[in-house]
Amino acid sequence: MNEMKRNEGWISLLKRAAKKAYSLVFRTNNAVWYRLDLESAPAPRETGDVKVVFSSGGEIIRWIREKSAEYPWIYIENELDTAVRENHIFPCATVGGVIAGYVKIGFGRVYVNDFNREISIPPKDAMIYDTFVLPEYRGRHVALTLVNGASDYLRSRGYERLWCHIPEWNVASSTLYRRAGFREIKRIRFVKLMSFGFFNLDPEKMLHFSS
Ligand SMILES: CC(C)(COP(=O)(O)OP(=O)(O)OC[C@H]1O[C@@H](n2cnc3c(N)ncnc32)[C@H](O)[C@@H]1OP(=O)(O)O)[C@@H](O)C(=O)NCCC(=O)NCCS
Repeated sequence: MNEMKRNEGWISLLKRAAKKAYSLVFRTNNAVWYRLDLESAPAPRETGDVKVVFSSGGEIIRWIREKSAEYPWIYIENELDTAVRENHIFPCATVGGVIAGYVKIGFGRVYVNDFNREISIPPKDAMIYDTFVLPEYRGRHVALTLVNGASDYLRSRGYERLWCHIPEWNVASSTLYRRAGFREIKRIRFVKLMSFGFFNLDPEKMLHFSS
C-alpha cells in the first residue's frame, strides 16, 4: 500500500515537471484587440456610491502589492517598472471610500506580459492593460463606471483613442469593454517556441497603422 502511494507521488511529480518543461518550451495566447474612439465615448456615469479616483500611483501600487498575495497576476514587476518610467496612471474605483478595483492605463511604452516585452503606443493613444475588481464588488457596474470615467479623463487631456486587449475566453471583460463603447479591431495570436516569439499580426503595426 505504502509503495503504491509512493509511486503515485512520483508519477504526479513527474507529470508536473513535464507540464512545467512544456510551458517553458511552448506557449500561446489569442487576444481580441478593442479600441474606443474617445470623441464618441459614452458620458461618464455615477453609480450609487462608486467613485473614480485619479490620485497619485503610490497608494494604488501599495494596494496592488498587498492584494497580490491573493491575486498574484495583478503585480508584475516588469509591468510596474515600465509604468513608473513612462508615467502611466492607475485610476481606481472606490465604494464607500474603500478601493474596489483599478485599471492600468499606459502611454508611450507598455509592457505586455502575454508577449514578455514592451510595445510602443502612438502619441495620441492610450492603452488599458489590466482591469481588476475585487470579487465581492463585481456585478455592480464598478468596472463600467471606472472605464467610462477613465475614458472621459483621457479625452479631456487630448487623447484620441483608447485600446485594450482581452483573451478570447474572458467573457466578463469583453462584455464590459463592449458595454463601454469599445469595438473589435483585430485578433492577434502569439506563439512562443523556445525563445522565439511569433505573431500572426504585429501588434505595433496594428496600433500605429489601423484607421
Ligand atoms: C472583468 C471585471 C473587471 C468586471 O468587473 P465588474 O465590476 O463585475 O463589471 P461590471 O459590473 O461593470 O459589468 C460590466 C458589464 O459586463 C457584464 N459582465 C460582468 N461580468 C460578467 C460575467 N462574468 N459574465 C458576463 N457578463 C459580465 C455586466 O453584466 C455588465 O453588462 P450589463 O450592463 O449589460 O449588465 C471583473 O470580473 C474582474 O476583475 N475579473 C477578474 C480580472 C479580469 O479578468 N480582468 C480582465 C483582464 S483582460
